[in-house]
Amino acid sequence: MKLDWERAIAAARDAHAAADSPLCAYLYDLNALAQHAARLRADLPKHCDLFYAIKANSELPLLTTLAPLLDGFEASSGGEIAWIRRHFAQLPLIFSGPGKLDSELELAIKHGATVHVESLHELERLAALARASGQSVSLLLRVNPALAELATTTLVMGGKPTQFGIATEHIPACLERLQQEPALILCGFHFHLLSHQLNADKHLQLLAAYLRQTRQWCEQYGLHIEHINVGGGIGVNYREPHQQFDWPRFSRGLADLPLPEWRAGDSRCQPRLRFELGRFVSAFCGYYATEVVDIKDAGERTFAVVRGGTHHFRTPAAQGHSHPFRILAVEDWPRIYRRPAVRGRPVTVVGQLCTPKDVLASDTPVERLRVGDLLLFPYAGAYAWHISHHDFLRHPHPRHIYLPAEQTIF
Ligand SMILES: Cc1ncc(COP(=O)(O)O)c(C=O)c1O
Repeated sequence: MKLDWERAIAAARDAHAAADSPLCAYLYDLNALAQHAARLRADLPKHCDLFYAIKANSELPLLTTLAPLLDGFEASSGGEIAWIRRHFAQLPLIFSGPGKLDSELELAIKHGATVHVESLHELERLAALARASGQSVSLLLRVNPALAELATTTLVMGGKPTQFGIATEHIPACLERLQQEPALILCGFHFHLLSHQLNADKHLQLLAAYLRQTRQWCEQYGLHIEHINVGGGIGVNYREPHQQFDWPRFSRGLADLPLPEWRAGDSRCQPRLRFELGRFVSAFCGYYATEVVDIKDAGERTFAVVRGGTHHFRTPAAQGHSHPFRILAVEDWPRIYRRPAVRGRPVTVVGQLCTPKDVLASDTPVERLRVGDLLLFPYAGAYAWHISHHDFLRHPHPRHIYLPAEQTIF
């Protein structure tokens, strides 16, 4: 998770030297991604699997880097299923998300995805489509229980009435329906109640509650399940980058969480614990590099306008934070006009859009910043380019540069 700044800075400078207009580019350090993903996977106890939620960033070089290191991918649309299967014919695949279309469920059945079912109606449609296809389908019920252990983060999807998952009171009806459907194989329960969790202990408490709830359902309904999917939701600390989620501590704590268990003959059986992380896997490998094109004072404040903006890098606007950045001083000034600069003042970094919401960083103190210098925004590998409104104002898209992974992991 330690950023390889040197590598990113060298790549940004190379891209700047090669650019024929002010720089605007995404840099992806595939080596850092591979190291990080391998470390995450290696730290987990043996009974855990790690999937990548590709909605965080589905660029092919990232997926190709991750595929051999993780246990599979999670897709949340027919488009993502098709993208994954086009490039990874055999990789284990999960299909989740609300509002699945029949055509998407058919695609999931065809491609052998495990389906996370969001409602009784979806279960009934899946049953009908599975019957029609003559194939059986593995599924998890996505549940939305009210749990006292649910810490509040900036993004909560459950634990209260929301559009996500099946409310506890409808679970008996789903289980009853499943008993009448031999084509549907219940493999377990899926929980994804929040994102942006930064505290390892709180997340362990939440997972303990998921497991307690699952044990209770297993006992109550006599279920033997293969998986408990505990979702994604591990956050990236953009505000205090030196205090990231303590993954090693979290992984050690997982070993102590009691799983449901049952006996089959002489063997003791337990389900596997499955993670489907997005942000925490890919955020650290990405950088958004951009060049300052104007600097101006307005009353008490100073604004630096950069090439690009939130239509490329919506993460800070989406999360409501001021994104950290580094300044790469550029000494060359081959232009025929003067070079504005700011010294020793806080600067607000904005983009080229015609909206006051186009802010990447607010009132950040800088020693010196000049037009023509470069800014490098880290943690831009997840929910960055892929959540941005690229074509607003029809500015050109940034370059996407992939710094290759080395052969050896670790
Ligand atoms: C069902 C589900 N699983 C996994 C994820 C990935 O979450 P994160 O990127 O916070 O790990 C999401 C994100 O919205 C999701 O909705």
